[in-house]
Amino acid sequence: MDSLLDFRGKVAIITGAASGFGALLAKGLHERGAQLVLGDINLPGLDKASAEYGDKAVLLQCDVSKEEDCEALVKAALEKFGRLDIAVNNAGVGHEMLATHEQQGDIFDRQYEVNLKSVMIGMKHQIPAMFKEGGSILNVSSMAGIGGAPKLAPYAAVKHGVIGLTKTAAVEYAKQNIRVNAICPFFSPTNIGAGMLKEDGVEDMLVRGCPMKRYGTVQEMVNAMMLILSPGNSYMTGQAIAVDGAVSAI
Ligand SMILES: NC(=O)c1ccc[n+]([C@@H]2O[C@H](COP(=O)([O-])OP(=O)(O)OC[C@H]3O[C@@H](n4cnc5c(N)ncnc54)[C@H](O)[C@@H]3O)[C@@H](O)[C@H]2O)c1
Repeated sequence: MDSLLDFRGKVAIITGAASGFGALLAKGLHERGAQLVLGDINLPGLDKASAEYGDKAVLLQCDVSKEEDCEALVKAALEKFGRLDIAVNNAGVGHEMLATHEQQGDIFDRQYEVNLKSVMIGMKHQIPAMFKEGGSILNVSSMAGIGGAPKLAPYAAVKHGVIGLTKTAAVEYAKQNIRVNAICPFFSPTNIGAGMLKEDGVEDMLVRGCPMKRYGTVQEMVNAMMLILSPGNSYMTGQAIAVDGAVSAI
């Protein structure tokens, strides 16, 4: 195995592991030797996605907007595997596309709870478990965390916030050798964006707007996640890495 992607002996928490990026990342880390604590609000989906991992994985139903659930993931890692090396704060939700003046109901509050507060309370419990031996945290932001995202103001606001939390924690815990990075994927076909593609012209706009003239596959996003998390990538911290076919380079 390429030592850059050798995760043997590592224990990793992944939230939102029932589908999309989280499920495929769990598979990739499992194949490369990691032991896993997987959380998702959708327990049947998590059971299905993780059936083959046996005693190499603990599965927990969790709501990442609840602090006790975030803490339970860390406790499970320490109790079952005796350590925590990696945490991927990946769980997230999208919302209906609405211009800023059309925003309504509790869309913003839900975005804050699930996509931003979750990262704060997740790291609050993950970081102390890494004090002794260091570790690597990856927070999943978005291209909407780097620039504006028309009709997705609440999502863009909280994904910008994820980068603020990431950079702050990276500086605070650099001495303890805890790396904290964010990934900013451009569109990739998972459940979260399925609704967006039904909107007139959105798919065309996404593809035309990308210099590579295509989306990134889910596997390409997960490959980038593994490279960021890799134990060999030991000097990269405090970064928000765009994985976007050069969209952000324009
Ligand atoms: N797919 C994309 O185009 C894209 C682009 C940029 C960023 N992202 C981000 O990637 C992350 C993963 O999304 P995905 O694309 O794999 O979508 P997805 O919908 O396939 O996966 C999201 C997972 O999070 C889980 N989840 C939702 N709310 C939860 C909660 N309160 N507690 C615990 N789990 C919860 C869902 O059940 C689901 O399994 C999200 O943070 C998303 O914002 C996705």
